[in-house]
Amino acid sequence: MQPPIIELEDVDLTLGAGAARAHVLKKISLTVNEGEAVGLIGPSGSGKSTLLMTLAGLERPDSGRVVVDGADLTRLSETALARYRGRRIGVVFQSFQLIPAMTALENVAVPLELAGRADAFARAKEELEAVGLGARLAHYPAQLSGGEQQRVALARALAPDPAILAADEPTGNLDSETGAAIIDLIFAQQARRGATLVLVTHDATLAARCGRAVRLRSGRIESAETAARA
Ligand SMILES: Nc1ncnc2c1ncn2[C@@H]1O[C@H](COP(=O)(O)OP(=O)(O)OP(=O)(O)O)[C@@H](O)[C@H]1O
Ligand SMILES: [Mg+2]
Repeated sequence: MQPPIIELEDVDLTLGAGAARAHVLKKISLTVNEGEAVGLIGPSGSGKSTLLMTLAGLERPDSGRVVVDGADLTRLSETALARYRGRRIGVVFQSFQLIPAMTALENVAVPLELAGRADAFARAKEELEAVGLGARLAHYPAQLSGGEQQRVALARALAPDPAILAADEPTGNLDSETGAAIIDLIFAQQARRGATLVLVTHDATLAARCGRAVRLRSGRIESAETAARA
């Protein structure tokens, strides 16, 4: 049997200082198999985003282990971690997080170029075409609709062909129709690439579309039920 692609073991994380100090993740253990789609659900403030950032290597736990795609992220140096993340983990946020001074094409191509890929611009164009934005390459984020901006962000996340796609409420800033189109695109791209998806959502229907839903409450995993994939 293949080892899990994501393995968190007894992860504890405290954020903030002084009065703002908060014990956000408490003894979190979680395994995700390659190609799985997992929905992360739970009340506001329960630690969903923090857990996603931790498994994406964007937050370091105080204790515990985070093993992703064979690498123990808690043991990597900052430089090694950044390099690893760029190649193996794609992240999509609710607020798109595109660079305003760069065109759609540049937003996708520049990270690839910085990662040393000679075909960065050709690759970026392909990725933007795959999300239906072939006619928007030269547009700046401010000239794109919310749904289009999220497609650019998705193309950017997927361009390095990551093993894992981590999405934090990717439809939170979109109307329901536009959001549904983004979700369809995320699942289609995940299936096409055989990637593993971890999706934070408030939407029970959406969580049910994932093979499994993991529920957080006050920084702990409350339940991890399996559901048939839609
Ligand atoms: N930098 C920080 N310093 C102190 N506390 C923090 C920090 N970041 C997050 N927290 C706290 O950690 C808890 C979990 O935050 P997190 O953003 O992970 O929740 P969430 O489940 O994603 O919530 P939402 O559904 O509202 O997005 C919250 O109580 C929050 O106030
Ligand atoms: Mg959140």
